[in-house]
Amino acid sequence: MSGPTSVFALLSGIRALPVVAIDSVEDAVPLADALAEGGMPAIEVTLRTAAAAAAIAKLLKERPKLLIGAGTVVTCAQMKTCAALGVKFAISPGLTPALLEIAHELKMPYLPGTATASDVMVGVQHGFSEFKFFPAEAAGGAAMLKSWAGPFPDIRFCPTGGINAQNARTYMALPNVVMVGSSSTMPAASLKARDWADIARRTRAFTDGLDNIVSC
Ligand code: 3PG
Repeated sequence: MSGPTSVFALLSGIRALPVVAIDSVEDAVPLADALAEGGMPAIEVTLRTAAAAAAIAKLLKERPKLLIGAGTVVTCAQMKTCAALGVKFAISPGLTPALLEIAHELKMPYLPGTATASDVMVGVQHGFSEFKFFPAEAAGGAAMLKSWAGPFPDIRFCPTGGINAQNARTYMALPNVVMVGSSSTMPAASLKARDWADIARRTRAFTDGLDNIVSC
């Protein structure tokens, strides 16, 4: 049995993943373009809104070069929907054995979520070595990931939850962090105003801030 497809290999070279919630399908393309312009060409579209599936389908069709994934995948039915849509990867805030198994069956590049050592161990039992660490800031932040490097030296993380341009570098400096996830470059007011230039500018500031990270 081969292991799960690596999300980090798929998103190779990308250090920041925008976590988006799209309320209107017509916002999907201009938002994705603003994020790509700011240096974020891979997007986690969360399944938290009624428009999410239609927005994903539109992005896959109209922006085939972007790496469009689905987030907030919490049921096996949602994982199947993601596979049917053709998303490039799927992400969950937590994990269940059923989700780990179905991701494997569907050959879906998948980042299960964890906030505990026990869930890392459940994922490892199912052949996973890459996880979303969520909610990063609330669950112990960079200190937690530093602690996990001891018992889990081969495990890699994408921390998400409370990460912004100010604290992203602290996470990225950790050897077990490959990328960070964040919604911080898309403030609600900018989304509401459809101020794509503002979002592109904030996104660029975030990605520029990740240059020249020195691992500690
Ligand atoms: C997620 O689902 O990953 C988080 O809601 C994103 O966290 P943030 O909004 O604090 O960046």
